[in-house]
Amino acid sequence: MSLIYKTKIANWKWYEAESVVSTNDTVKEQVSELGNNIVISAIHQTGGRGRRGKSWQESVGNLYFTYTQKAEAQELSKIVCIVGLSLAKVIKRLSPQSDVKIKWPNDVFLEGKKMSGILLEHIQDNLWAIGIGINIVGAPILEGMSYQATSLKENGIELDRTEILRYYLKQFSEDMEEYRQNGFENIREQWLSMAKNYHQEIMVKTEKETKKGKFEDLDDNGYLILKTTQGTERIIAGDLFV
Ligand code: BTN
Repeated sequence: MSLIYKTKIANWKWYEAESVVSTNDTVKEQVSELGNNIVISAIHQTGGRGRRGKSWQESVGNLYFTYTQKAEAQELSKIVCIVGLSLAKVIKRLSPQSDVKIKWPNDVFLEGKKMSGILLEHIQDNLWAIGIGINIVGAPILEGMSYQATSLKENGIELDRTEILRYYLKQFSEDMEEYRQNGFENIREQWLSMAKNYHQEIMVKTEKETKKGKFEDLDDNGYLILKTTQGTERIIAGDLFV
């Protein structure tokens, strides 16, 4: 696998590969050589990974990339929310008339369908790999899911994959700066203003169980507040269903 240095975007050195198994793995392998501030994109990704052991299918022309981010483990839930918010904001800016929503914690939905996936993994110490797949031109048929996938193209948003990469990284960099300077509150409010199923009855599947209740709030850690018949619960990680 050979990596071609492209340019710097915000604080990251951007490299592109013709083909990789998973850009998350490539970043983990390359940090010792290329440093702590890198983003690696791939034209082809043959073994893309999703959350909960699922795979992330390739569609030629879609965007696959992973970048590094420093963060303390205890602030990770907030970072997870910022990643989704930054992407949702970019899509909304490109297509203001479209319905763009964030499904907790960070799936971005366009007109009710999933258009991106985010996989955040640990690299070492306080360094994390944030991997994002964006459906630019193609969307897979999702089997056994309660929702379908869509692409930007299907919604009339025609943009080069690398332009989206630039817009996203610049937006994420700004949102992280806002968070570092002023804390999570402003981010939290923006996130809630784009949240899917906010104040609705939902189900949340955690590692251990599925819980039912009302999506009451997002707390100052980025945890979901679920109002159940037993009381109010804070959910740190899981998948949201309706
Ligand atoms: C999900 O929704 O389940 C997360 C999907 C994450 C896919 C991206 S594509 C780029 C990066 N490399 C991977 O192997 N996975 C992420």
